[in-house]
Amino acid sequence: MKMLAVPATVVALWAVNAQATTNDDIAKRLEPVGKVCIQGQECKGMEVTASVGGGGGMSADDIIAKHCSACHSTGLLGAPKIGDTAAWKERADHQGGLDGILAKAITGINAMPPKGTCMTCSDEDLKGAIEKMSGLK
Ligand code: HEC
Repeated sequence: MKMLAVPATVVALWAVNAQATTNDDIAKRLEPVGKVCIQGQECKGMEVTASVGGGGGMSADDIIAKHCSACHSTGLLGAPKIGDTAAWKERADHQGGLDGILAKAITGINAMPPKGTCMTCSDEDLKGAIEKMSGLK
């Protein structure tokens, strides 16, 4: 009986140990997977942030489409038209260059609303939009 009991205990202990080791191994093997998943999620989150509003702003195209094209695509209220470089250049020449018309765009000029209604736009954002619309650099 004793002879049989010992190996049985040993086997039972071994089994428990083996189980524990296996669980440990599984946990260890899962750990990097879990980290990879979390990293993947973080990456996904960052990608979303980047495409929605990362880097502090929209692209020049987005800004133009959302805020400027309403007036500047048709020349509404006398706005210089998108792509009409000559019209933009004439203004720039009057205001002392691209930075001059940028300053007017920020403060607003006549029917041109301050920041072209893009209140969250930085000066750089507006400059990018103006460069795109005017073709000036
Ligand atoms: C509500 C209509 C409207 C919107 C929206 C608008 N603009 Fe204008 N913009 C005008 C008009 C009108 C003028 C011409 C103003 C004038 O000289 O009488 C103008 C002129 C300008 C000028 C030339 C300023 C100068 O010194 O001659 C710049 C630069 C400009 N807009 C940039 C922008 C940008 C960038 C946006 C979008 C972020 C924008 N505008 C959105 C109507 C608009």
